[in-house]
Amino acid sequence: MSWKPTNILVFGATGLIGKFLIAELAKAKSSFGRIAIFTSQNTVDTKPDAIKRLQDSGVEIFTGDLKDHELIKHVYAGAGGSPFDTVVNAFGRNAILEQIPLLDLAESTPTVRRFFPSEYGTDIEYDETSPPEPPHQLKLKVRAHIRDHIKRLEHTYLVTGPYSDLYLGAFKVATETGTYDVKAKKAVALYDGNTPVSLTSMTDVGRLLVAALKHPDVSRNRALKVNSFTAPPNDIIKEFEKQTGDKWDVKYVPREELVELEKKAYEQNSPLSTAFTLRRIWADGKTLYKTRDNEELGFTDTQTLQGAVKQSIEQQTAT
Ligand SMILES: NC(=O)c1ccc[n+]([C@@H]2O[C@H](COP(=O)([O-])OP(=O)(O)OC[C@H]3O[C@@H](n4cnc5c(N)ncnc54)[C@H](OP(=O)(O)O)[C@@H]3O)[C@@H](O)[C@H]2O)c1
Repeated sequence: MSWKPTNILVFGATGLIGKFLIAELAKAKSSFGRIAIFTSQNTVDTKPDAIKRLQDSGVEIFTGDLKDHELIKHVYAGAGGSPFDTVVNAFGRNAILEQIPLLDLAESTPTVRRFFPSEYGTDIEYDETSPPEPPHQLKLKVRAHIRDHIKRLEHTYLVTGPYSDLYLGAFKVATETGTYDVKAKKAVALYDGNTPVSLTSMTDVGRLLVAALKHPDVSRNRALKVNSFTAPPNDIIKEFEKQTGDKWDVKYVPREELVELEKKAYEQNSPLSTAFTLRRIWADGKTLYKTRDNEELGFTDTQTLQGAVKQSIEQQTAT
């Protein structure tokens, strides 16, 4: 019988996307064995409610220092219980390289079979224009490390494109990169607003992780290209107008203006630089593919444009 991931250990589980990953794993617990997280003492101290919710849903909590490699190996090996065979990492952008020692430790722990590195976003190897993009550099280093140094351990990259929950929100800081502001009934769209963007809801990212775990042969040693739905900004605006019953004020930002703003953001070392670059990549159509891997994972019941707009309206009008 072919191998199935059974005991899953998650790093980064209380972060933005980690919360959705662990929530969906906990919901699917009956399909797996142990579900656990490894986190810092600081997170346990500062996020007691999140930790309690996880414990209540049957998730085991391991606490310690990532630099304590003996401890990580002990946890990988099961910490006295059944060994973990699968590691899921959801570290944030600033901690992407912290995964490399975790990968090496997993490679040298025979019971660990599969590693999901922190991806869950833009395709960092979409085409020949991808390698120099600044936001991709750390994730590219992780992929290169896997290619060059990891021989036994299997990997899966879950490439989801932008999150619909964020993309369809009111981006208040750099509105020139695109925003859907329900209260002001204003939208900013990039270019002419006609190029579709492939989006995944954060709940679907978690559900897709579960689907990838349940289809280990399909997901073995590859980048899965998945999504919830694809829509151009103009269709998103039309849907907001339909659901709010009003005409919206729409501004279009040409590519040259976006590229100029992006350049300035890097010159000023702005923390928004990454957002400018990613929005350009998405507006250029580089989230699009001829086919998706959803079907291979048996994943057909996804969030829709209508559902995502409804959720955005509810969230933006709740406060
Ligand atoms: N597609 C999209 O639109 C989109 C949007 C945002 C992010 N992403 C991607 O999703 C992945 C996760 O990002 P995120 O925004 O969810 O991350 P995040 O919330 O910034 O951080 C996730 C977790 O990483 C751990 N962490 C943070 N700093 C650390 C450090 N210095 N050393 C060790 N661990 C550290 C923490 O784990 P604990 O929970 O254990 O404390 C934290 O909760 C990234 O690959 C990112 O690029 C995609």
